Amino acid sequence: MDHRIIIFTGKGGVGKSSVAAAHALKSASQGKSTLLVSTDMAHNLGDIFEVSLGREIKNISQDLDLYEIDPQTVMEEDFADIMKYLTGLVSQKDVFGLEDLGMLPGMEELFSLLKIAQLHNSRVYDRIIVDCAPTGETLSLLKFPELLSWYMEKLFPIGKVGVRILSPVSKQIFQIEMPDRHAMNDIEKMFLKLMELEELLKNREITSIRIVTTPEKMVVEETKRNYMYMNLYDFNVDGLYINRILPRDINNHFFDEWLTIQQKYITELKETFAALPIRQIPWYEEELRGTENIERIVRDVLTGEDVFETGVIREREHFEQTEEGYLLKVRIPGADKNDIDLYQGATDVVIRTGNVKRNIPLPNILRDYAVSGAKFEDGVLNIRFGKGGDQDDE
Ligand SMILES: Nc1ncnc2c1ncn2[C@@H]1O[C@H](COP(=O)(O)OP(=O)(O)O)[C@@H](O)[C@H]1O
Ligand SMILES: [Mg+2]
Repeated sequence: MDHRIIIFTGKGGVGKSSVAAAHALKSASQGKSTLLVSTDMAHNLGDIFEVSLGREIKNISQDLDLYEIDPQTVMEEDFADIMKYLTGLVSQKDVFGLEDLGMLPGMEELFSLLKIAQLHNSRVYDRIIVDCAPTGETLSLLKFPELLSWYMEKLFPIGKVGVRILSPVSKQIFQIEMPDRHAMNDIEKMFLKLMELEELLKNREITSIRIVTTPEKMVVEETKRNYMYMNLYDFNVDGLYINRILPRDINNHFFDEWLTIQQKYITELKETFAALPIRQIPWYEEELRGTENIERIVRDVLTGEDVFETGVIREREHFEQTEEGYLLKVRIPGADKNDIDLYQGATDVVIRTGNVKRNIPLPNILRDYAVSGAKFEDGVLNIRFGKGGDQDDE
């Protein structure tokens, strides 16, 4: 598939920028027009490539462009109209009780995503490689379109037009029609734009999320949580990169214990991420600065032609018709069954695990249904809906 978006995420300092940069070099070397873009406010692409970057896209070799996004500039130059809708929306926050949404901070980040979507839609690049801010910020960045459209749907009578885009299966079941664009006001346009963005980020054919990690306790723990949350939000994680692996043949007993510990966490990662392609990156003796050093990752790890193909494509979450009503399956691999809370509001189901919560809007046809049971099995939460419905949580 051409026109891919590959997003790298992971804890701070694990090597996201280095790994993203290596992919960009590899991609360009295949003659694919490639953009390496950073959404991390602490940009360092310029440092890695040893060039000075401004606020614009910069071409650095035949098929490679670099871009450190400045959301403020993007907001003013590319999306002034959207900014206008959003400001209008936020200025009504007291009326709608939005004060604790923290919408303004997240909104800046939204413009990075809108810009990426715009660049994707322009079809200028075969591959857009995204170097993200550390984990927590990446999730809030990626979930923001869904969250904002969720609030908009609550606040304005847009849910009624039924634009919520479901998987093709659900579309058939619920017979959702996209309304005539001209009939919609600004808010509805904004809503649609957010839905399109969400759709793009969750489109398995186009967007991949790849996690970079290192074999050490705290990082591995965060990596597992990150994977769980990305799945809870229905993003397609299709690759894992274990970075900074010590060479086994170090002739120095100082490293013995360290090697053992690394081995333990590598094994643990392999077990947890058995379903994903895993790539292992050696610990180099020097910092990865300059294309020559980054090329080492390309040579050692990014071999083969399939680096940019989607590693695994899992089915999108959708509502399935069953004998008693409907079934919704949500993947939350690695979640603790006792730490999953599920409740149903008037218009959506809410799933909470750890400190992350997701609201999944119910299609109109399900509004007369109630959650009749839920079961967490093999990393998947199966939520059953029945007419009326008695609770039988397991
Ligand atoms: N495999 C490696 N071997 C040696 N140094 C590395 C390796 N991976 C990353 N580094 C160095 O570690 C630092 C952090 O890497 P970086 O890619 O900027 O991480 P992140 O983007 O996740 O914060 C950089 O100085 C980088 O050159
Ligand atoms: Mg970085």
